[in-house]
Order: sequence, then structure tokens, then C-alpha cells
Amino acid sequence: MCGIIGFVGTTPAVPHLLSGLRKLEYRGYDSAGIAIASPTEPDIVIRKAVGKIANLDQAIASHPLEFEGPIGIGHTRWATHGIPSVQNAHPHLSQDGRFAVVHNGIIENFHDLRKQLRELGFEFRSETDTEVLAHLIQLHRADTLIDSVRAALRLVRGTFGIAVVSSCFPNQIVVARRGSPIVIGANETETIVASDVAPIIPYTNKVTFLDDGDIAVLTPGHFEIRSMENTSVSRSETAVDWDPGAAEKGGFEHFMLKEIFEQPEALENCFRGRLLEEDGTAKLSGLRLDPHDIASFDNLVITACGTSYYAGLHGSYAFEQLAGIPTRIEQAAEFRYRNPILSPNAGVIAISQSGETADTLAAVREAARKGATVLSICNIVGSTIAREAGRGIYLHAGPEIGVASTKAFLCQVAVLNMMALLFGRTRRLSNSEGVHIVHALKKLPDLIRSVLEQKDCIRKIAEKYAGCSNAFYIGRGYMYPAALEGALKLKEISYLHAEGYHAAELKHGPIALLDEKVPVVACAPLVPGHDKTIGNIQECRARKSPVIAIATEGDDSIAAFTEDIIRVPQCSELVAALPVVVAEQLLAYYIARFRGEPIDQPRNLAKSVTVE
Ligand code: G6P
Repeated sequence: MCGIIGFVGTTPAVPHLLSGLRKLEYRGYDSAGIAIASPTEPDIVIRKAVGKIANLDQAIASHPLEFEGPIGIGHTRWATHGIPSVQNAHPHLSQDGRFAVVHNGIIENFHDLRKQLRELGFEFRSETDTEVLAHLIQLHRADTLIDSVRAALRLVRGTFGIAVVSSCFPNQIVVARRGSPIVIGANETETIVASDVAPIIPYTNKVTFLDDGDIAVLTPGHFEIRSMENTSVSRSETAVDWDPGAAEKGGFEHFMLKEIFEQPEALENCFRGRLLEEDGTAKLSGLRLDPHDIASFDNLVITACGTSYYAGLHGSYAFEQLAGIPTRIEQAAEFRYRNPILSPNAGVIAISQSGETADTLAAVREAARKGATVLSICNIVGSTIAREAGRGIYLHAGPEIGVASTKAFLCQVAVLNMMALLFGRTRRLSNSEGVHIVHALKKLPDLIRSVLEQKDCIRKIAEKYAGCSNAFYIGRGYMYPAALEGALKLKEISYLHAEGYHAAELKHGPIALLDEKVPVVACAPLVPGHDKTIGNIQECRARKSPVIAIATEGDDSIAAFTEDIIRVPQCSELVAALPVVVAEQLLAYYIARFRGEPIDQPRNLAKSVTVE
């Protein structure tokens, strides 16, 4: 949520900051800004604009900077305190104009601090919580920038990832972290800092994640990390295996479409080295669990937010079906506050693409506090949830830039299926059952390719329904999470009201909303429960709703009940949701495109939600 960038090197900082901000824009995009410092200039120059980075480009083009400095910070915002406006956009300047701050997170005691600062004569130019930081740093100015920032942060309650430049202390950036990610990379002459890995990759593939309580000084090609108590801190480097082009659109019109089409390859990367055909099981070393540990779990709790939650719902079915372990799924925001009961032998699985979602992270901490074994499923290597859980599995899906999650969902489900297989093989599945599941998983990339080949057919169906205002998605069994995820995709990017419902539940209320203007997307491949779903489709048709069926190739019977059919290949029940979800992704994508919506950056959303 919000993107931070900072550059200190030997060439003008502006192009570095702008290209970094473009890579971070998916984190928030209601306004953006940069601040530039120079060792030879007494001032800091700032440019800001409401809206996307392109508007900031224009603001700089129409009001060129007074000087070109090699040190700068930038920010792309997802508003929490104060509407999107130039005044509220970051960076924020101290009263004397000598310190500029960009910030992710929330300063919880900002009201009190603001009052105290006002009494001392500070005037506020924005409604943000961040501006107090800039004034506090000025107020507590010490002999070094790091000491000034440290003194200010001691007064602050809440969460932050910050970057600070100052014309009093040229040649450096100071960054600090408590609760919001800060990642640093350096090559010989340049040091770059950001709120995630993507903007750093063009400079180096070796990145260092700050821990909570770390504060660091960045100079050209070098950085030093210290603690809030001013002791020296050493953090290990993480090697990132993304190629720099992975965060580019690569000829696709949108990141989302590119990421939909990357899914077969993402699944191949996710499976690589993990499926053991002969033994009919999976090898997931990152879990650091031996068979005895796995056998000792008496229940599992899966926790996550958004799309990751729906992947978790699928996982909860798989764990019960394959491993016979009672498994419940809980929204992370509920888990953290509800004081959930965790037995001593509970395993908690936290799922998060970004590994930074505030509620999921808090759930991880709560589960650890209660003594559960915490396992993570994350995409971002070295992210906070992955590090704090200590044991877990990475998706290896590559960077996901489109705000609406696509390839991460598929890989999350793939990982959960592999885990359920491993747990099942340790507990009750036979070798031949395991081999059958390994085969089903291995086929997935090709099955997904065959769905992608139908994009033109799906686009035609999308065109037909692009003008509607409401839609339902229905399914049962593994198709229930698929229905929820399909509806979420449509809501996120097309702004249509869509609801995912269990196919049988529809008649307990929502069926009252059905008529000829409300299409129903029925997730109806040939899996157990298919005949019952057909019955539910009939109920919708009887209310005149047009039905778009996602059905198995060769299932001719379905044509009698629906006018629009998207075909998915025949596959085993455990993996059948994935081709269905890919069809839903394409449907949502093309509907949003026909409606002319900004697909990669939908209004009001952010890719990584680091506030609760
Ligand atoms: C945001 C994103 C969703 C995502 C959710 C959880 O709301 O817009 O796409 O599913 O956060 O994110 P995570 O990184 O924890 O999977």
C-alpha cells in the first residue's frame, strides 16, 4: 500500500525515481511526488501531482526542476488520511523546507503530535499523518540525519516505512521500518531503496530487507543498518531470481492479461523439483516438517485475505479430503481480534502473495504467540510474513503487478494441493492415490494453455454481457471457491456488482434478485456434484437469468440449459477449479476492457494492503 522509492548515486535522480515509481504504481496510484536534494544546493525541490505517475511526468515537464540532484525520494499514494490532492501527496516537507519525508503506514498518535507541534508554532499544509514526521525531524534535529530521524521516530506510535532526505545533511538518505516493508539494494555507485523488490531489480538482484526497528543510512553504492538503540545491525542479502523484464508488460496491453497468460509457466516454476512421481508425493523442504511433525497436527487453520483467502478455502477442502485433517479457514482480520482457539497441535497456514498484508501478518503473530506451528505460503521472497513464519513455501510465480491477483491464485492453489498431498501421503493416502494426484498436478500447465486458447470465444461472451450491472457466480464443492474468486475478479476490475454464491445457497435469499438482466456464471465442469449444479442452473433459468456455463469439453448435455458455454478440459476434481478460474479471469478482463476500465489499477484498490 503506497510505494516508496529512494535513489542516491552519481547521476540525476529524477529518471531513476520516475522509473521506480512506475514499477510501484500498482501499490497505490491516487497521487505521486518526488523530492530532490543536491550536495551543492541549500534547498530541496519537490514536484507532486494528483493521479498516476504520467501526471507527475507532466508536472515535471511543465515545471522543470530548479536543479538536478543525485539524491531523491518518491512516493505513489493510496490515501488513508486526507483525500487525494497535491497538498496531501508525499513527499512532505518540514516547516523550514530542509527535510522531506515519504511514508507508508499509519502514525496512530498523529492527532496528539499535531496538536503539540501546532502549540510550538508549526503550521500544517496537509491533512496527512505523515507531515508530523517531517516537522518532528526538524524539531529534533541532531548532529546527523540518522540521529534526527531516530529522535523523531521515538515519539511515534503506529507503523511506518519511511525515507528521508535533507538539505542539511546532503549525500544521503535515511530509511526506517516498523511494520511497512523497506528493501535496499546497491551496486558500485548507486543505492536504491523501495517498498518492494521490483524497482531494485534493474540495479542488482541482491536485496536486503529491513526488519522492524531497523534504521539505515544510504550513500552512493553503500548502506549501513543500525537499530533504534544505535547499535550496528547486520541483515542477510536475499538473491532474487526475477529477470528485469518480468516487471514489464512484454507486449501485452495490460499486466493482468500478461499475468493470465503467464500462468502455465508460473505453475511449471511452482511445481519444479517438488513433485515426486515415483513416491506419489511432494517435496516441500521449506516447511521443515518431518513425517512425525506432520502426523502430530490434529487440526489446521488457514488464514488470509482477498483472493488468497479463496485459495485457502480451496486448500481447506483439499486438506480434509486428502489428509483427513480437520481444517478451517478464517479471514485474517477476524483471526487477529477474535481470540481464536488453537489446540497445542494446531498448524496455522498463512497465505499472502505479497507477504506484507497487515491483517495476515497480525494473524501470523497471534498464532505464533499462541504456540501454533506457523507455515507461510508467499510469493515475495524475503517478505515479512515469510520471514516471521520461518517455515513456508514460495510460489515462484514471478512478480504480479496487476492489482487483481491471477497467477498468484493459481500457484497458491497448486501449493496447497501439494501440501495436502504431502500431508495425505504421510497420514493415509496410498502410493497409487498419490501418483494419481501427482499426474493430475503435472497436467495442469497444459490444461491452462487450452483454456487460454479460447480467449476469442470468451471475449465474444464478454462483449454480450459487458453492459449488465449485476451478476452471480455459483458453484459447489471446489467450484464454490472458484465462484467466489470469479465474482471478486469481476468486481475488482469492471466495477460490476457481482456475488459469488454456493449454488445451493442461492435459493435462500439471493434468488429474489434474479431476472433476465442478471446473468449467472455457473461453474459446472464434470466433477462430483455436477448434476446438482445443473439443478441449480435450472432454478436460475426459471427466473429468466441468462446462464454462462463453464463446462467440460464434450459435456453436450449442458447445452440444453444454457446459451453461452465456455469449455474447460476434463480433469480430476482436485485441480478442476483452476481451468475454471482462468476462464473467469479472461471473462472479467474482457468485460472490463469493453467497459473501458483501467484494468491494472482499479479505483480504490491497492495491490498490497499494509493497513488493517
Ligand atoms: C489486496 C489485493 C488483492 C489480494 C489481497 C491479499 O486486497 O488487491 O488482490 O488478494 O490484498 O493480498 P496478499 O498479498 O496477502 O495475497
